[in-house]
Amino acid sequence: MLLHTIAEVREKVKEWKREGLTVGLVPTMGALHNGHLSLIKKSVEKCDRTVVSVFVNPIQFCPGEDLDKYPRTLDEDEKLCNAAGVDIVFAPSPTEMYPDAQMLSNDFLTYVIPPFFYTNKLCGKFRVGHFDGVCTVVNKLFNIVQPDFAFFGEKDRQQLIILKKMVKDLNIPVEVIPCPIVREESGLALSSRNKYLSGEDKVQALALSKILFNIKACYNKGIKDVKALTETAYSYLNENHSLEYLEFRDADNLEEKKIADDNTIVFIALKIGDVRLIDNIALA
Ligand code: PAF
Repeated sequence: MLLHTIAEVREKVKEWKREGLTVGLVPTMGALHNGHLSLIKKSVEKCDRTVVSVFVNPIQFCPGEDLDKYPRTLDEDEKLCNAAGVDIVFAPSPTEMYPDAQMLSNDFLTYVIPPFFYTNKLCGKFRVGHFDGVCTVVNKLFNIVQPDFAFFGEKDRQQLIILKKMVKDLNIPVEVIPCPIVREESGLALSSRNKYLSGEDKVQALALSKILFNIKACYNKGIKDVKALTETAYSYLNENHSLEYLEFRDADNLEEKKIADDNTIVFIALKIGDVRLIDNIALA
């Protein structure tokens, strides 16, 4: 069932709750791929009812980012959701979510601001305000859908860690379920932004997963020193790549690691032309 308004979703969820059914929420920005479908599948298996939200959230895009050209494929998304057993596809308009569309800055809109320690690094350093937009919209979606479980991909690991922190700090009655990264056979992590990659760029994009897999292989051989683990990474990069970061951080609180351990996540972001790609790997 495709719904566009908050009132309709609330009505339906109220019915489900009266019947004592559990509700799963899979928040997305659409352009669904097999990565999203793995989250959806988990929710459909675990919960009595599943809501997939499809909303390209304007307040999590920074000036100059790809808000306007972000792929929008609602018809296709709806078909995929129906086939996967989703009960509601919630696709609100920007004005449904933000009625004062002219007033999206935090001068006028109430934002949920995650802690600076979590947002001043990795993607947050390059996308200032991004996680404020993410936390704000996800909090709104939680309030609208009131899910028992919410499913997020480990592909956006910093986002996942920040959202878990938000849920804990604000006592939001939802259980966040992390879902593993889905990769193409080549190793490339699935992302809606892969649509921007031409054939040659897609080959160049393999550098991310190659670097991460190589680091993990070295860690498994017993190398723990981050400097040593990072050394070989640069041999995978060429003039087509612009590396934003390659960092080792704690899986719970994002503290930097100089010596890697089983609770370490390796994060990478790089640009190929103007396409920005991210990936990460857990060393455990
Ligand atoms: O990961 C995403 O697609 C988005 O950041 C999310 C969680 C749907 C919020 O807009």
